Amino acid sequence: MATLEQGGVVDQPAYMHPIAYHERTKHNFGRFAKSPGYMDWQNQPNPFRSYAGCDSLPLKFLQEDPAADYRDLYHRKNNRPQPFSMDNVAALLELSLGLSAWKSAAGNRWSLRMNPSSGNLHPTECHLILPPTSSSESGLFHYNAFTHSLELRARVPAEVWRRVIQHFGTEGFLMALTSIFWRESWKYGERAFRYCNHDVGHALAAVSFAANLQGWQVKYLNAVADEQTATLLGFDRVAWVAQEEECPELLCFVCSSEIEAVPRDLSSDIVTGFSHLSVTGKPNILSGERVSWPIIETVARATQKPATDATVIDFGPRDACREVVSSLGAARIIRQRRSALAFAGEKSLARERFFALLDRTVARNRHTPFDVELSAPSVHLMIFVHNVEGLEQGLYFFVRNPADAEPIRSLARKEFLWRQVEQGLPLYLLQTGDFRRLAARISCDQEIAGYGVFSLGMIARFRRIIRENPYRYRQLFWESGMLGQILYLEAEAHGLRGTGIGCFYDDPVHEILGLSDNSYQSLYHFTVGDPIEDRRLTTHPPYMHLQDRR
Ligand SMILES: Cc1cc2nc3c(=O)[nH]c(=O)nc-3n(C[C@H](O)[C@H](O)[C@H](O)COP(=O)(O)O)c2cc1C
Repeated sequence: MATLEQGGVVDQPAYMHPIAYHERTKHNFGRFAKSPGYMDWQNQPNPFRSYAGCDSLPLKFLQEDPAADYRDLYHRKNNRPQPFSMDNVAALLELSLGLSAWKSAAGNRWSLRMNPSSGNLHPTECHLILPPTSSSESGLFHYNAFTHSLELRARVPAEVWRRVIQHFGTEGFLMALTSIFWRESWKYGERAFRYCNHDVGHALAAVSFAANLQGWQVKYLNAVADEQTATLLGFDRVAWVAQEEECPELLCFVCSSEIEAVPRDLSSDIVTGFSHLSVTGKPNILSGERVSWPIIETVARATQKPATDATVIDFGPRDACREVVSSLGAARIIRQRRSALAFAGEKSLARERFFALLDRTVARNRHTPFDVELSAPSVHLMIFVHNVEGLEQGLYFFVRNPADAEPIRSLARKEFLWRQVEQGLPLYLLQTGDFRRLAARISCDQEIAGYGVFSLGMIARFRRIIRENPYRYRQLFWESGMLGQILYLEAEAHGLRGTGIGCFYDDPVHEILGLSDNSYQSLYHFTVGDPIEDRRLTTHPPYMHLQDRR
């Protein structure tokens, strides 16, 4: 294994960087990944980015939520495609990356958003390249979630916009997600790069769900290089403060759900067109002082995406979804999503509901959110069932891609049963038993992992994917984050609550399965149960600071 001193690795093949980073940022019993070890409150990064000097366009708030029901979160057929107007883009943003509430306690106040974030630090930013409207030309905008407004960073000439539309062959717009690593490393140090990428996955799924309610689909442009995205966003023309730069993560095209296929690349004349735009706006300063984490810079560089061939991901024919319908509407579920802080440990989940919930994590063509088409499914679920009616307590495995079933089985403990629980569902009982203590123990001793209905670890095919394409290190975390977003919404839909768990002891998790090398690695954990409300906290409306605009 490569050694990484001061974040520098000399003469290593590119794939060694993410693999070495991953090794180095593992938590283990008695040894946590390197972090500041305390909270430097003086320099806590501002969770809201704004670009000073840009024209700001206040967005309307929804007066009425889309009528879509629970099933319409995932299916596409009932959501009628809406025009690409500012008000509809506003609705998409409000229901994906906008504020969901303010909380206050003991003189402190903080906001929450529709998308969750490790430590509520929100490293993910969103930029949009929108079509012209009757009152404005096409433009490059940054979404400011605090003011629910778009900051116009550049006007896009009609000729450049025309090239975009000609290229994609249909109406729509471009959306990019970026990360500010410092927001997370301020608290979590070296492990922060992982969390930023989880958050990208959560945000991407959140955008995909909200877009579906507008009758739109989100397609990941998998051929595009990060450098090209940076050019489109004008990042080469921004005077960044060191450590506070935004790093491009992904670029998507958003179009009507009725469109069968769109290109997954950008033509060079589009990129050239954007490279000449004059970009305005000075990014606000997030912290008085910043700490550099060289290992994050190294892994970020090593996992930058180059231009690649465009690919279409076909998830193949799948059985229809197992429908156990929630009475809650789609927007209601999105709005009420929260992380549980503690579980009562009393409620159980009916077996049929548990199966339906797991089935939602299966990638299907023309189903949100995996039809953004990141890649073939690479992440599986190792599940500790604590309290599901009609299902024995124990350790289970949910295989999301059948191609991995045999390899995992051959690497895992020989004594596992691999007994399929239900016909047509790739859920296997490995071992019966009460895993509550162990589940909490390996989740950095967080009780919520042992108390609820179930908790799980996301087990990704790892070494081979990264050896072939180091940039896919990020994507494995995105896929995990997307799974987490589904689990958050599903928990709400079934009257429970979820919490993403980024803090877990990596190799002790692998030991439970008997995995002794890095062919597969656990990337993210999640827990679901019946929440206990923290009565010390007061909840306020999401945009109470903008009451006059409602
Ligand atoms: C990637 C990720 C990792 C997280 N890890 C933990 C964790 O280890 N323990 C925990 O209690 N909450 C964890 N959370 C939950 C966040 O603290 C929570 O999302 C944040 O405080 C915002 O609150 P909200 O989800 O209610 O909007 C995690 C969330 C994400 C997205």
